[in-house]
This record gives sequence, structure tokens and C-alpha cells, in this order.
Amino acid sequence: MDQNRLRHGHQPAVVRGRPGSRADHVAVRSRVRCPRCGFSYRLFRETLGDSMSAQLLDRKVAIITGAASGMGLATAATFLEHGAKVVLADIQQDAGQTAADQLGPAARFRRVDVTDADQLESLVQYAADEFGSLDVLFSNAGAACDLSPVAELAPEGLRRTLALNLDAHAAAHKFALRQFRRQGRAGSIITTASIAALQAGWNGAAYSMAKAAVLALVRQTALESKGTGTRSNAILPGAVLTPMIPPMFGIADADASRFLSRVSAAIGGQTLIGRAGLASDIANAALFLASDLSSWITGADLTVDGGAMAFTKDATVDLITQVACEFASDEVRE
Ligand SMILES: NC(=O)c1ccc[n+]([C@@H]2O[C@H](COP(=O)([O-])OP(=O)(O)OC[C@H]3O[C@@H](n4cnc5c(N)ncnc54)[C@H](O)[C@@H]3O)[C@@H](O)[C@H]2O)c1
Repeated sequence: MDQNRLRHGHQPAVVRGRPGSRADHVAVRSRVRCPRCGFSYRLFRETLGDSMSAQLLDRKVAIITGAASGMGLATAATFLEHGAKVVLADIQQDAGQTAADQLGPAARFRRVDVTDADQLESLVQYAADEFGSLDVLFSNAGAACDLSPVAELAPEGLRRTLALNLDAHAAAHKFALRQFRRQGRAGSIITTASIAALQAGWNGAAYSMAKAAVLALVRQTALESKGTGTRSNAILPGAVLTPMIPPMFGIADADASRFLSRVSAAIGGQTLIGRAGLASDIANAALFLASDLSSWITGADLTVDGGAMAFTKDATVDLITQVACEFASDEVRE
């Protein structure tokens, strides 16, 4: 197989300027294309402009799981742009390796199945051996897995979903905490949960249960890090246009990009911000939580959802309003 072609038939692309030029520095990590759906992510510098040119993660070493695609890939590019050294970890060998190659010399790739605790332990050891320490863990790999309703949920489907979306985060926290202790230096642990942890209806039952439990893990890690300087926080994304979405609706990889464009057009106007969520929105939140800008924030749940959790999706209020209108006109008639 051509190593530059990916499992999904797309090649990750990072826009480059002339090597070594300022244009190269600005553009190299300013846009990254998802390997699976071809979606192009606008990153931090383009969003905030040159005024935000500080290197927020200068010399920090980060591990990002689920980094071959979606939010993890966008975050890897953003962390690198801010001076970090990044180990991208993912189960997708070709996509992950190609992304790391494209992202430059401060990026490494390790093929890791996060449901295997031994592989997570060696991942942490690898980052420390390769770059000298570990400062940031972005425990992010995840997938919807079993979408069955509670009444149909089989033990195997529940276990598989929890293994990826809960157990793997607990193991990642464990090995990162041990590394922070070994090196005598604190770190920041960021874990991707979901608004499905707060409200039913966004994803399958097993996934929502796992994401809710992740919030408890995040708080427990924060508590057990009391006085050490280590921080632990959760990001709760709303519906974000990444390759995770199309398979949940039975859409084939080949149609993913067109499908996501249509979803973007359909839901954009419904959000409080007026556009759909992008992987770069999560990357920017992760950058904040990884950096010293958030040095007094730990044990927190940060929703990054375009305001979705700020209002109710339930139709009850609309129905009461309708009844009130009908009631008022009945009163006028009587
Ligand atoms: N996209 C959304 O709307 C949304 C909303 C809320 C939360 N999330 C969460 O965001 C995180 C990132 O998802 P995304 O939307 O970027 O999806 P994505 O599919 O683009 O990325 C997930 C990555 O995790 C990797 N992965 C899956 N299983 C793995 C394993 N066993 N070991 C190692 N890597 C594995 C995949 O290969 C993929 O690269 C996930 O935890 C997901 O649950 C996504």
C-alpha cells in the first residue's frame, strides 16, 4: 500500500509556505485536512490573527490520543503551533504516521490501542524517553460504539463502549499521574467527555453513561492531585463536524465530506453562535486548558457546544406557548 494514501483513501494535507520562511511558520500548522473525510480545519492563528502569536506551550511535551483524525488531529496541529512537542497516538497506523510526518520534526506518532493499558503505559514511557518529560495529556480517543437503546443493550456492547470511552481514560490518567510524580513536575490532564454526559438524546445510552462517568474521573484526578500543581479538566463538545459523525448515521466514508457540509448548512443557524462546531473549536479549548492561562482551573467541565446546553431542546415550552395563545383567543371569544 502506498504509505501516503490513507485507509479512507484521503491524504492528510498541511498547507506549507517556503521551508524556514515566516510564511512557512505561519502557514504550516494553520490548516490541516482530516484524513478520513477531507474536511479542512481552520486553526488558531487564522482565528485570532497575528496578535495572538505567543507560544503558549513553549517546550511542553504533550500526548494526544485519537490524534489521527478530528479533534485530536486539530489539537496536535494547534499544540505544535504553540511550541509543544507532541506524540500523536492512535489505532490508525497509516493516517497517524502520515499526519505526524506532515506536522514536522516536533511531532511523533505511536500506534496505540487505548483499550490496552500496557500500550498506554509504554506510550507515556515513550514520550518521556523521546522528549524528556510529560507536561500535557489530552486523553481524547473515543467513538460511539454501541448505539442500542437501554432496553436492547447487550453486555458485550456496553463493555466494549465503556472500555474505549471510560476505562481507557482511567488508565491514561493513571500512567500520566505516575509520570508526573516520577519526574517531580506537575502536568495538565485534559479529557474529552461530551454534552451527552449532561443531557440524554445526543448519543447512545452506553456512550452517554461512559461520558458521564468520565466527569467523575476528571474530578477525582483533580482531587487526588491536590497541592501538586497537576490539573485535571474535561472538555464537553457539542455536535462537532468530525469523521465520528457520518458512520453514526450509516454514511459511507466516501460520502462523509459532502454529508458533513450539508449537516453544517442545516444546523448552523440553529446554534446560538450561528455556525456548526469545528474540530478547531475543541483544539482552542484544549490549548487553553493545557497552557498556564488556565492555571487556577481544575476539576472543571468546559462545555464547547455553541451554547447548546444553555437552552432546552425540549418542546414543552413551545407547547405551553401554543396552549396559552389558544387559551387567550378562546377567552376573547367568550
Ligand atoms: N464529534 C462530535 O460531535 C463529538 C461530540 C462529543 C464528544 N466527542 C468525542 O470527541 C473525541 C474525539 O472524537 P472526534 O469527533 O474527533 O472523532 P474522530 O473519529 O475524528 O476521532 C477519534 C479518533 O480516535 C481514534 N480511536 C478510536 N478507537 C481507538 C482506540 N481503541 N485506540 C486509539 N485510538 C482510537 C480513531 O482512530 C480516531 O482517529 C471522542 O472522545 C468523542 O467521543 C465527539
